[in-house]
Amino acid sequence: MNLATSTTLKHDIANSALAAEGKKRITLKAGGAEIALCASNPLSTQDDTAAALVHEYGISVFARNGVDREGYYSHINAALDIAPHQVFDDGCDLVNTLHTTRTELLSNITGGCEETTTGVIRLQQMAKDGALTFPMIAVNDTDTKHMFDNRYGTGQSTIDAIFRATNQLLGGKIFVVAGFGYCGKGVAERARGMGADVIITEIDPTKALDAMMQGYRVMPMLEAAKVGDIFVTVTGNRTVLSAEHFSVMKDGSILANAGHFDIEIDVAWLEENAKKNSRIRHQTDEYVLANGHRLLVIAEGRLVNLGAAEGHPAVVMDMSFADQALTSQVEEHGRNHRYSDRNSGRIPQLLEAR
Ligand SMILES: NC(=O)c1ccc[n+]([C@@H]2O[C@H](COP(=O)([O-])OP(=O)(O)OC[C@H]3O[C@@H](n4cnc5c(N)ncnc54)[C@H](O)[C@@H]3O)[C@@H](O)[C@H]2O)c1
Repeated sequence: MNLATSTTLKHDIANSALAAEGKKRITLKAGGAEIALCASNPLSTQDDTAAALVHEYGISVFARNGVDREGYYSHINAALDIAPHQVFDDGCDLVNTLHTTRTELLSNITGGCEETTTGVIRLQQMAKDGALTFPMIAVNDTDTKHMFDNRYGTGQSTIDAIFRATNQLLGGKIFVVAGFGYCGKGVAERARGMGADVIITEIDPTKALDAMMQGYRVMPMLEAAKVGDIFVTVTGNRTVLSAEHFSVMKDGSILANAGHFDIEIDVAWLEENAKKNSRIRHQTDEYVLANGHRLLVIAEGRLVNLGAAEGHPAVVMDMSFADQALTSQVEEHGRNHRYSDRNSGRIPQLLEAR
């Protein structure tokens, strides 16, 4: 079986050389798959991990940290040249590319899986439009993924990234989290645990009420923008922080995004309208607005925990990647009915529980 997969390539010390991510690919290879690997985000690759997968394990990797848009898509296309039977995606760029520019490969594909919330939303829309031509499993929907990876993984690694990029003390800071989903809850809990005064913004009234009952201040972003010191968007939505918010923010405000795509903070507006911008620390850009206030944007508004830190610790990703690896067995053991209907389904409970 040929398998194309988009992913994050990171390692941590507990795994000495390779992250859970690499280990999953090795597991799949040991199971007999031919693998081609590309990135799920231009800043998400750790080059030494990518090199180790190539040199130590003979896995084809098409990824390099910091590639531009053209390079990113050329890597996706190079991975797809393997003519995959299955695709493991993270964010849906791989599947979207297949359905838009590599349609000649579609008939070869029996199915695959999607890792993250945003990718599942994109797949659900494709399925609704009748555009998805093969079955995909929504790995993100399994409890062993979103309850742990999204919450504790994103919670910890997002705070880690803010520390690495800015070296700020969190105690006493007003910390605004946009989105109180699985990831947002994790970020808010960890920020509060380190002494920050956390404000939540939410468009879903029930989740806003949940945040309020957990003791957070809840308010619209336009209000939060006036008082916050640090802002984290983690909604999966677009333009969560935009010009109207930038113009009322305090001097020195720190802005980071932990949602999958770099569309939550309107960095393009800052690029066009700031009087001056300069990189002042590793992965931290300073934009000086017309009112003289400086806004600090981490990792260009891309996934901050991957761009400015090392992603989640492997111990929590092990759970997500085990879920991903198990999806390949659904194919092997015969189509589960939820898998074979052309919507994103959950991993069958039997496999999830192993
Ligand atoms: N950084 C990471 O490592 C990582 C890990 C997992 C998921 N993600 C990504 O993070 C994002 C969120 O994932 P999740 O699992 O928490 O999703 P979720 O659906 O559980 O939560 C998202 C929340 O954001 C709210 N929201 C939407 N638009 C908003 C807006 N304009 N203002 C305020 N709130 C708004 C929604 O109502 C929802 O409650 C997705 O893009 C996902 O792919 C990132």
